[in-house]
Amino acid sequence: MNILKNSLLLLVLVTAGSCSSKSEGGMDQKASKSTHLNQEVERKIDSLLSLMTLEEKVGQMNQYNGFWDLTGPAPKEGDAAKKYDHLKSGLVGSMLNVTGVEEVRSVQKIAVEETRLGIPLIIGFDVIHGFRTISPIPLAESASWDLEAIKNSAAMAAKEAAASGINWTFAPMVDISRDARWGRVMEGAGEDPYLGSKIAVARVEGFQGSDLASPYTVAACAKHFAGYGFAEGGRDYNTVDVGTSTLYNTILPPFKAAKEAGVRTFMNAFNELNGIPATADRFLQRELLKDQWNFDGFVVSDWGSMIEMQAHGYARDRKHAAELAANAGSDMDMESYAYVNELVDLVKQGKVQESDLDDSVRRILRVKFELGLFEDPYKYLNEEREDAIVGSKEINDAALDMARKSIVLLKNKNNLLPLKRKGQKVALIGPFVSDKTSPLGSWRLAAEDGTAISLAEGMASYEDNTVRVSEGVKLSNGSNSFPMEVKVNSRDRSGFDEAVKVAKEADVVVMALGEDGFQSGEGRSRAELGLPGLQQELLEEVYKVNKNVVLVLHNGRPLAIEWADQHIPAIVEAWQLGTQSGHAIAQVLYGDYNPSGKLPVSFPRSVGQMPLYYNYKNTGRPTLPGEGVVFWSHYIDEENTPLYPFGHGLSYTEFTYDTLKVNKHTDGVQLTLTVKNNGEVVGKEVVQVYIRDHFATVTRPVKELKAFELVSLAPGEERQLQFNLTKNELGYYLNDGSFILEPGDFTVFVGGSSDTVLEETFTIEALDE
Ligand code: NOJ
Repeated sequence: MNILKNSLLLLVLVTAGSCSSKSEGGMDQKASKSTHLNQEVERKIDSLLSLMTLEEKVGQMNQYNGFWDLTGPAPKEGDAAKKYDHLKSGLVGSMLNVTGVEEVRSVQKIAVEETRLGIPLIIGFDVIHGFRTISPIPLAESASWDLEAIKNSAAMAAKEAAASGINWTFAPMVDISRDARWGRVMEGAGEDPYLGSKIAVARVEGFQGSDLASPYTVAACAKHFAGYGFAEGGRDYNTVDVGTSTLYNTILPPFKAAKEAGVRTFMNAFNELNGIPATADRFLQRELLKDQWNFDGFVVSDWGSMIEMQAHGYARDRKHAAELAANAGSDMDMESYAYVNELVDLVKQGKVQESDLDDSVRRILRVKFELGLFEDPYKYLNEEREDAIVGSKEINDAALDMARKSIVLLKNKNNLLPLKRKGQKVALIGPFVSDKTSPLGSWRLAAEDGTAISLAEGMASYEDNTVRVSEGVKLSNGSNSFPMEVKVNSRDRSGFDEAVKVAKEADVVVMALGEDGFQSGEGRSRAELGLPGLQQELLEEVYKVNKNVVLVLHNGRPLAIEWADQHIPAIVEAWQLGTQSGHAIAQVLYGDYNPSGKLPVSFPRSVGQMPLYYNYKNTGRPTLPGEGVVFWSHYIDEENTPLYPFGHGLSYTEFTYDTLKVNKHTDGVQLTLTVKNNGEVVGKEVVQVYIRDHFATVTRPVKELKAFELVSLAPGEERQLQFNLTKNELGYYLNDGSFILEPGDFTVFVGGSSDTVLEETFTIEALDE
């Protein structure tokens, strides 16, 4: 039943046919993926557009942040009053940061029941890694290399958010980054475009499901288009200047993959790319995304990124910024107030074509139709569903599953891990042992502080051991509130003595060190990559009295921990694992869960190696030509290699690789190899396949990931695996953006990390298309 109250809109929808986005015409996600538009929906949009005034069209392109205590009385003056007025006049198409059924209903009701046309709002939110229940930060999830688990995690986040009235997430962030100084490394899938593309697809499919109109799914958003992860010096919002080879081969593939997976929206970016702010980049948004890639969803600008084009030195004033953004194909304005104030005039002056506005509005309305909002604008608003789903056991179980899969065992000398289940005296030391907030990480807007299971709580469920806890040092003396406060690390050593005493009396020390939940994330770039504050000092003091140390890292980015690698026998990368953090870590420490994570980013030896990535180019001077020779590509005071390479991660068992064979086919090559579990426990291994194209028109990296498989093997079990490499994997983008496979010599490398163990060479002649 159609429950839209507005008679004009009802007339449009009824005369143009049924209102469902899953209509008789068969419009569903698959149809939109192939850009095969649903004619019926398009007709409805035509009718709607014909009714809309210029102001109402601009209104659809305007997005506001939540602006007053929504369930309280309406504001009378100031900015909030103006926004409220705009909402009632049909000048708002979307809102963000309005959450919970009650709040969302209050704004949706105004849009639907008080405006002339009654067009529903689309409600956006940063559902980055969970909503109220927090899953591991995206970088951590990526370390699982488990695409099904990642997809499920996104689906659970969508379910919880949708139950709270949200129908659009600003995720996934698919920015590739090679620079651990950049705080938003935590929000992406790491440094590799192949892994990044696979994870982008998993996340889009998880958020959107197979039916966007379901009240359990949300529209996804691929961001930040494009190049944001390549900020100079790793400093957030900084200039990005990259060549076309990097743009096409590294930055764009995950965006293209997201588009192919049917992502319904894109977000542009704060940064300029080669001199043009992304928000005004016509090539990216119109020519590439909308024309060449045939994207038929819409593009939202990033927060205030339109007016920021003045500071970039690209737009003269707000009006000019609106003109540049609209002409470049930026469809919706997030909090710049540029479209709502300037666009009507710009059209009247002929500086922006009304047909371009119509195109933007059509795209926005299309997604609203697909979400089922015209069928029932209140479909995401059901208190009972909200109560049943938010924080439910199903969602917490999924968060725990994802958390365990995200942990990476970096080092385990003499099998110090797993811990013994009985009779071991354990000291738990460090600022994170009892912290119930930091494990939630950055981007956890809807979660409550203090809701994570701490490490001490997780360890407490293993009752047979004596565990003593000592914080040792506080990391910061700030509060945990989001997001404005920058943390100052404490200089107080008064807890050291107690920590050292507890360590001395223990059989094994578990030290939980790393970064506070808000020492990574947006605006949290770092110039140093060591353990912040006094933690390194504490680690060294404890190590002096007890060598059996297990270092459990809590962090949002790769850290430079060379001293720890040289001295500490066991190191566990536990990132920021979300609500179930402590349980997941304890299960790994006690061997109830055999770790299988692999690094999606290289870990540096020192910050000076940034940017650091495994798929670098060889250069003309790649290797040491002779003893004492200076003139080759290196540092005089540091190695070139990472501390832990991309793809690295250990297990409580051991895997061996054998008999790699390459068979040529008409459309590429087929690889076969065997992998065996040589240990005494069941374990999972991520088998990784890399290639090198030896000579090319545009030089290729020394290694590129092109396939992987996560396999579970029983003790002693051996499995033969097959991988097919076709033009898609063997080819690359030339500098003009065309994709090519050049015949010639290749090497294929296989192993359990980018430091591979087997290799074979083969030659590709021209392939069948
Ligand atoms: C700015 C961030 O760059 C973007 O990723 C986010 O979605 C918006 N703020 C909205 O919160």
